[in-house]
Amino acid sequence: MPDSFVIAIDGPAASGKSSVSKVLARRLHCSHVNSGALYRAATWGILQAGADPADPRAVAAALAALHLDCLPSGSGFTILVNGVDPGDQLRQPAVASQVSSVASIPEVRDLLTAQLRRLAEGRSLIMEGRDIGSVVFPHTPYKFYIDASEAVRLSRRRAQGEVDSLVTRDQQDSTRKTAPLVVAPDARVIDTTALELDQVVAEVLAALVARGLPAGSAES
Ligand code: DC
Repeated sequence: MPDSFVIAIDGPAASGKSSVSKVLARRLHCSHVNSGALYRAATWGILQAGADPADPRAVAAALAALHLDCLPSGSGFTILVNGVDPGDQLRQPAVASQVSSVASIPEVRDLLTAQLRRLAEGRSLIMEGRDIGSVVFPHTPYKFYIDASEAVRLSRRRAQGEVDSLVTRDQQDSTRKTAPLVVAPDARVIDTTALELDQVVAEVLAALVARGLPAGSAES
């Protein structure tokens, strides 16, 4: 039995990754990391610093001067930018509209990928994002790609009351040169368009056991 494990949950915006990850973290008694929140926090800090998010040099310089912390808190992590918790500001349109541009910059990805890997040292976790199974933890046997139709994803975002240019973000995230959103060859793809949350969770848990996660870890 492995001492610790990483479960990678990738997929486009509003596909249901966060909902599934939160339930799984409760069921498996492990931590949950939303890596998108770290990219949003970096973007927020860069905007606060007055850097142009479309200028890779300015972004890299602003990021080097930022202090980004991820502190364990309950079953998740609190992100601090220069000691400040940005909270709901990470969901603001100003951040949502720039985060894909910032996330396409290789220096940003190098720094955040290293930070995400450190979070897994000595602990089991579920990490959701875009490149978790393909780049951040390519060797984990537990990889999922959670998808849903564009119409369903748009209506889920609307129901959350959020203004989010998710179609544009998905396009940018899938076509960038460094660590684009892709389906890792060994990922289990789950289309959640017509599924309830508990059906998705059941499918993930069954796949985890089939892939060797000790059954005891995956019991409710
Ligand atoms: O999960 P989210 O929608 O909050 O993510 C916000 C953005 O962060 C997403 O559009 C692309 C970027 N991101 C990334 O490039 N790589 C990740 N592993 C997670 C998020």
